[in-house]
Amino acid sequence: MSASALFDMNLEDARARHRKLAAEIARHDELYHGSDAPEVSDADYDALRRELEKLEADYPELVTEDSPTQKVGAAPAKGFKKIKHAVPMLSLSNVFSEEEVDDFLERVRKFLSLSPDDIVEISAEPKIDGLSCSLRYEGRKLIQAATRGDGATGEDITANVLTIKDVPQALPDDAPDLLEVRGEIYMRRGDFAKLNEAQEADGKPPFANPRNAAAGSIRQLNIEITKERKLHFFGYALGEVSERFSNTQWGIRQALSQWGFAEAEPTGLCLNTAKLMAHYEMILNERAELPYEIDGVVYKVNRLDFQERLGFVSRSPRWATAHKFPAEQAVTILRDIDIQVGRTGSLTPVARLEPITVGGVVVSNATLHNEDEIVRKGVKIGDHVVVQRAGDVIPQIVRVLEDKRTGAETDFVFPKRCPICDSETLREGGDVIRRCTGGLVCSAQAVERLKHFVSRLAFDIEGLGDKIIQLFWEKGLIKSPADIFRLEEKSKALQPPLQEWEGWGEKSVENLFASINERRRVSFDRFIYALGIRQVGEATAKRLAVNYSDLATLIASMKAAQDSESEAYSDLLAIEDVGPGVADDLRGFFAESHNLDVLASLEKELSIEAYDRPVAGDSPVAGKVVVFTGKLEKMSRPEAKARAESLGAKVSAAVSQKTDYLVAGAEAGSKLKKAQELGVAVLSEEEWLTLIG
Ligand code: IVH
Repeated sequence: MSASALFDMNLEDARARHRKLAAEIARHDELYHGSDAPEVSDADYDALRRELEKLEADYPELVTEDSPTQKVGAAPAKGFKKIKHAVPMLSLSNVFSEEEVDDFLERVRKFLSLSPDDIVEISAEPKIDGLSCSLRYEGRKLIQAATRGDGATGEDITANVLTIKDVPQALPDDAPDLLEVRGEIYMRRGDFAKLNEAQEADGKPPFANPRNAAAGSIRQLNIEITKERKLHFFGYALGEVSERFSNTQWGIRQALSQWGFAEAEPTGLCLNTAKLMAHYEMILNERAELPYEIDGVVYKVNRLDFQERLGFVSRSPRWATAHKFPAEQAVTILRDIDIQVGRTGSLTPVARLEPITVGGVVVSNATLHNEDEIVRKGVKIGDHVVVQRAGDVIPQIVRVLEDKRTGAETDFVFPKRCPICDSETLREGGDVIRRCTGGLVCSAQAVERLKHFVSRLAFDIEGLGDKIIQLFWEKGLIKSPADIFRLEEKSKALQPPLQEWEGWGEKSVENLFASINERRRVSFDRFIYALGIRQVGEATAKRLAVNYSDLATLIASMKAAQDSESEAYSDLLAIEDVGPGVADDLRGFFAESHNLDVLASLEKELSIEAYDRPVAGDSPVAGKVVVFTGKLEKMSRPEAKARAESLGAKVSAAVSQKTDYLVAGAEAGSKLKKAQELGVAVLSEEEWLTLIG
């Protein structure tokens, strides 16, 4: 299992336990109210409810419409409606050191092609630890509030947000007609402490931290509960707007503040790394005294025209980053080390710890990364170790406290064979990762690939979590991805029928098949990502989808690219972020006949749709192949490339018959010559800018 699956596993365990408890409580409710024939004592019943409440306090995402906690007294509430965001809600990249802050500024300057004398102002504001929310005002009235969700689609929490006093329900006349304000819903430390006191007085479990308390309070289907919890809101960015009212981030903050939104302080404008660091230190020093929890400082390029030019990469803006506070640490005992096998066969050692609270969260697992790391840190089983947790990153073991040794500690021997399938393991070409060579023979790899296939950024099949994949695998129901789409058919022959399996019923089976069927249409980029090819993440999958437009073309091109002398291979290498390593993993995947079989059976079940480029369409360069060469004056090469791609052009590194335009800056050389020979249209930088408007 990849290191990042550690947390999912906990959430999955929690989800399974939640499902069981909820079913159990519902059954007792029915016995008590419906048939007046309780099977358990009141005390036992209360214990079940308390466990469920504790789970929901720790994992607010488990609060569902039909959870028994949502049914007390009030009529059953409706579930949360889904809302598609007009402008995606993004996340932020992170920096952790002065050097990385410097790199961030340098990247911005380079992208914008600025000279050393040009000024780039940065707005530095506290990063509030809550949950992000988008408020939509139409005709200056609040008409909708949505959670971030996966960034593209969130949940409708309008009714709950209307109970937050900080959120203006109407805006003054000078606000634009259409305005989306993005910000953070949070709970103040004092209110959090009081809430937990009340929880305990009522015999209910306390919340782990203010963020969980805020999330649990807003995701209440019973808004009477939300109303009692004191929530607040800070506005920090915009979504869709009908007209521009400021040229800077600073101006946006001022306008929001005039219109009645609270703004997080202390915020400042800084001109260089030294000033940013000073502001960061200042906020860090004030952190403990602030009435709310923060986990870092957000740096944003102040000028909005710069922000627009910088744009986005994957899921985060190039114009902003989060400078995170140092990790929190604690000491505990290492009880054991387990080896998890990931979907690419990687053997990851996972430390099983005596549970300990680190920065408000109970930690019982930590990653040890790889076998060299265990040797380097000199970790033995039974050792006292320092555990560290930074933000949402997986907890890590920092070091061993050798002076606490008693002599009873034992060495850990890293296995040379796969602990799951007993295949040989290898470390290829000096790789720090040892991998199982079993491929799909290894059940761990096969199961992990299936889990990846249905995960949120891939097929995103609701109701088909890790535990269920594991179960269906063991029962022989799902052995390869296409089996998921044949499950309904296959399950008809099951004895006993799926509906009668423990924890299942008519409704849950029906829901599962519905959510599987919903995913028979899939965009090409998600499809590629879902295949779980090593090193092919979300961004690379998108690039491949743009470059190879459909599955048949992708397969044919990857087959042709097996020959390193071929044009197909150089085309592959011309794709951004595809270096020889990624290219080899791709070629390796398409060289395996069983992978091609998997693709063929999937194709029969699915309708794979062309990747919808975010902004494309009517630009004259959409769909054209462009090559840049020579020195550009108005923008840097990365900016030129990002701009062209955002308009739907394909930027290639080499001139060929397929090139539509060569954009030649000063001192253009061999590419210009080749373009002239091939009769490719050559544009100056000016002409190019005129063409793209
Ligand atoms: S700006 C396009 N500013 O941090 C960038 N985010 O790790 C939009 N957050 O999802 C985010 N305080 O929930 C921004 N002052 C602040 C913030 C902030 C907290 C959260 C936000 C975002 C997350 C990213």
